[in-house]
Amino acid sequence: MNQYELKTTDPSETYQFAARLAERLMPGDIIALEGDLGAGKTTFTKGLAKGLEIRKTVNSPTFTIIKEYKGRLPLYHMDVYRVADSLEDLGFDEYFEGDGVTVVEWAHLIEDQLPAELLTIYLYHLGNEERKMVLVPKGNRYEQLCKEIF
Ligand SMILES: Nc1ncnc2c1ncn2[C@@H]1O[C@H](COP(=O)(O)OP(=O)(O)O)[C@@H](O)[C@H]1O
Ligand SMILES: [Mg+2]
Repeated sequence: MNQYELKTTDPSETYQFAARLAERLMPGDIIALEGDLGAGKTTFTKGLAKGLEIRKTVNSPTFTIIKEYKGRLPLYHMDVYRVADSLEDLGFDEYFEGDGVTVVEWAHLIEDQLPAELLTIYLYHLGNEERKMVLVPKGNRYEQLCKEIF
């Protein structure tokens, strides 16, 4: 399995990388974000929103689970941290199969409900403002996307 690594040394670098990635995203693309609290998942999502030409400020959707934003493509921002133990079917499929880009923070918590093909990005806290991102593409679409940006 191919994977791609990148270190960032401050939040804006993570944001900019995500914005650049977002320029290449297409309807139906799915990005799973993994990493501890404060690793940068929401910062990354804000960058994606920027790259998708979304004007509204993206905030952590922890209390609403899913937030939807309008841009070049719609962005469906999920934070499934709090739905973890309910294992409810919250209709995620409708988003995954929709015309927008879906980003899922803490995606492994709904592993059974995720599509087989997606781009997983692991964020690791290395130091103060240092983070490591590891991109793991599953499926041709995401392999191709990673090749284009690295
Ligand atoms: N290199 C970096 N990349 C991303 N965030 C960083 C970085 N360095 C410091 N930070 C800070 O770490 C915090 C990450 O928070 P957030 O993006 O909400 O993480 P998560 O959603 O994973 O809990 C923010 O306060 C951000 O400014
Ligand atoms: Mg977050």
